[in-house]
Amino acid sequence: MKTIIKNIKEIVGVVDDQIINYKCGAELNKISSIKDGWIIIEDETIIDFGNMDNWKGVEDWNETEIIDANNGIVLPSWCDSHTHIVYAGSRETEFLDKINGLSYEEIAKRGGGILNSAERLAQTNEDDLYNESKKRVDQVIKLGTGALEIKSGYGLDTKNELKMLRVIKRLKEKYPIPIKSTFLGAHAVPKGQTKEQYISTIINEMIPEVSKNNLADYIDVFCDKGFFSAQETEKILHAGKKHGLTPKIHANELDFSGGIEVGVKMGALSVDHLECTSNKQIETLKASKTMPTLLPGTAFFLGLNYPPARNMIDAGLPIALATDFNPGSCPSGNMALTISLACIKMKLRPIEAINASTINGAYAMGLEKKLGTIQKGKIANLTITKQIPSINYIPYSMGENNIEKVIINGKIYYDSQTNY
Ligand code: NIG
Ligand code: FE
Repeated sequence: MKTIIKNIKEIVGVVDDQIINYKCGAELNKISSIKDGWIIIEDETIIDFGNMDNWKGVEDWNETEIIDANNGIVLPSWCDSHTHIVYAGSRETEFLDKINGLSYEEIAKRGGGILNSAERLAQTNEDDLYNESKKRVDQVIKLGTGALEIKSGYGLDTKNELKMLRVIKRLKEKYPIPIKSTFLGAHAVPKGQTKEQYISTIINEMIPEVSKNNLADYIDVFCDKGFFSAQETEKILHAGKKHGLTPKIHANELDFSGGIEVGVKMGALSVDHLECTSNKQIETLKASKTMPTLLPGTAFFLGLNYPPARNMIDAGLPIALATDFNPGSCPSGNMALTISLACIKMKLRPIEAINASTINGAYAMGLEKKLGTIQKGKIANLTITKQIPSINYIPYSMGENNIEKVIINGKIYYDSQTNY
């Protein structure tokens, strides 16, 4: 079955024949586009695209579905490579504590933070956790996300970590978008245990179980002040790698934790957060294939300093953007808002932010061959916008939903006109 998207004001993010794994440095501010365009999809795959001047016509209209873009812009779906979308309940009481002046670390010390979510998760059964999380996945796909990474890390014991990972597995099976699963047992130390005891449980009990049941693609550690040190992180990642789990870690959010260095040393696919990053660490990242992943929604919500994104790009690095959707530090999975914040607070140019949220986000999930650009042979996960003046309007119109239709695997997944 073929599908044609016609009446496209501009197709943004097209790539001809070259193989692009990610964009870095000055390349990050370049994106190819075709004005007045069409796209042909066969089953779930993009097979051709072009400008109306070289429109080749349709062989068999009976066998072809037409999607009218109604003069909207078409771009690749967002690839959100860092979320904690599986969680129980919410933490708006801590939101109030923050307004009243407490820091993230002070809230954590009082038993709030990650331990608060762990307590709620332990009291929630697997089906309820699935149903609650499913609503959030539904919501982010309708906001234009066409690939997603989800972490565990609110279980903090073997039973509940596995429960979270099974919920992620069910979400993978339910939804038509690629979902990657990350084991984040080392998110915090649970109540009543020493760090040594808990690390031993992670290494000797959790990782072997996760791997035996094939429940994760990646392994993550919260490598930061008050959580896990660089040495502890290395030990845990080493155990994960022995079981085939590639590292993708939380680094340098609250302090210069050594997380960037250990991530690079252990061959992490990405190091995420990076609010505290020096020029020396930028050089360390440059000598690696590790994707620096920035989460401006978190810096915004917690009132942290932003990562030095401009220095990173000007030094020639790639960056990816992701939401960090979680109940404590960024209760939003809205990639368009993340892009606005990246432009406003980290001085990214709109094109840089769009590349960082598509092809570079795809790389940070090992999906760069399948998604992130509009290219023959790639999966047709696409967004059709409403009639907007230009691509720059997306970050400019902060908080506005510019989506007309969401296309997943070549089919209309969501149409704002019918709300379905
Ligand atoms: O990415 N930094 C560590 N973990 C999450 C927050 C978790 C929470 O507060 O629930 C983050 O910001
Ligand atoms: Fe996170």
